[in-house]
Amino acid sequence: MDIRFCNLQIHGDNRGKLNVIEGKKDIPFEIKRVYFLYETVNGFVRGKHAHKKLEQILICVGGKCSLRLNDGIKEQEVVLDNPNKGLYIGPGIWREMYDFSEGAILLVLASELYDEDDYIRDYHVFLKMCEAKGIK
Ligand code: TYD
Repeated sequence: MDIRFCNLQIHGDNRGKLNVIEGKKDIPFEIKRVYFLYETVNGFVRGKHAHKKLEQILICVGGKCSLRLNDGIKEQEVVLDNPNKGLYIGPGIWREMYDFSEGAILLVLASELYDEDDYIRDYHVFLKMCEAKGIK
């Protein structure tokens, strides 16, 4: 599965902490878009889509949340609970985000501008596309 934790630059001193990610240096793409999820409402599952080409890094900069990831063959659960943990998610991975803690902030760095045509929002279509690519 094309997911992995990536190394952030972690700086800290007696004043506090400061984490950095530089596009093309710490992660494999230039950052074209940044967005964040916050004030998430208990009980809702977010995401529920895959991307055709988009690459992303997810960092839970406050609180924690869980992710269910699926590449058409296997499923993996990841907990993001530390601002030092950046999760790279490549194209073709179905993702669901859930169990956000109170006050959680999920920061997302993306390789492209928003493009609804890059989304696969139907799980059955996703599985069919995996099948067509010989993944299943
Ligand atoms: P949605 O894809 O449902 O969020 P998630 O997958 O995180 O649960 O996005 C919610 C709305 O925000 C939807 O109408 C699309 C819009 N949106 C943008 O306009 N630009 C963006 O960069 C993103 C991520 C979403």
